[in-house]
Amino acid sequence: MIPLSSPLHPDNPAYPAWRDAKLAAYPARLEDLLVEVADPRALTMSEHAALLARIRKANMALYASRLTEVADKSIPRLLGLQFGLERLDSNLLADEDAITTLTVAEEPGRKGDYIPYTNRPLRWHTDGYYNRAENGICAFLLHCVDTASEGGENGLLDHEIAYILLREEDPAHIRALMGETVMTIPPRMDESGVARAAESGPVFATLPSGQLHMRYTARTRSIEWQDTIEVRAAVTALEAVFNGTSPYIFRGRLEPGMGLVCNNVPHCRSGFNDGPSHKRMLYRARYFDRIAGS
Ligand SMILES: [Fe+2]
Repeated sequence: MIPLSSPLHPDNPAYPAWRDAKLAAYPARLEDLLVEVADPRALTMSEHAALLARIRKANMALYASRLTEVADKSIPRLLGLQFGLERLDSNLLADEDAITTLTVAEEPGRKGDYIPYTNRPLRWHTDGYYNRAENGICAFLLHCVDTASEGGENGLLDHEIAYILLREEDPAHIRALMGETVMTIPPRMDESGVARAAESGPVFATLPSGQLHMRYTARTRSIEWQDTIEVRAAVTALEAVFNGTSPYIFRGRLEPGMGLVCNNVPHCRSGFNDGPSHKRMLYRARYFDRIAGS
């Protein structure tokens, strides 16, 4: 839900001021989001401040550290804690400590059925779009241990920018996408019946703190959009943003020792090929918390 008191509500006259503040001095290039840090497990005050400043502006920041090819899951866990990220989502396929190791699954079977464990392209989405509203993913971290021989590039778009681009095109798109039943994830079945109930919810909503939250997937299977002219037009416009050449879309690849800290911004990943000497490996941590102070 977006309350009328929010500048993000289509009928609130404070929107232009909110937009102009958002776009002022907005990062122009991926490099503007990058901070060099010595050790993400124990940031210095200036490193932390530099990352937080970027997150406050763009809902995301990248770091490059000297921990290249160090396989240590305390890296995302300890980094998250420094940004107030405590409540990890232990999703279906996370390891026991609720931090997921993303690699290409060696064995065909359970993990191999899920795209994040393959080397195929991953379409635009926010993490946990299938979660219940009260279990929304507000932030996630990626830390790269090793990268593929080729490919595996990410696209990133601040969800507040996605909102602005759509609203500037037509406020009716926002009205359509803030509907409470605009996007439905059908139930997931397993051998014993319904493993997860159907989930309906909005694409754009505000959190109790007033900040924008987005839930989206460009997948066309396992997703049902509300069948109205307004919703179809809005979804088409959103797809055009993601598939277009907006200068606000950042593209780049996480190299070993690098990572992403973000308020669950929409993202995609190109396909990749592991080589004989490299196997892409990332840690991912998803949180019910938003980054503190952002
Ligand atoms: Fe993701």
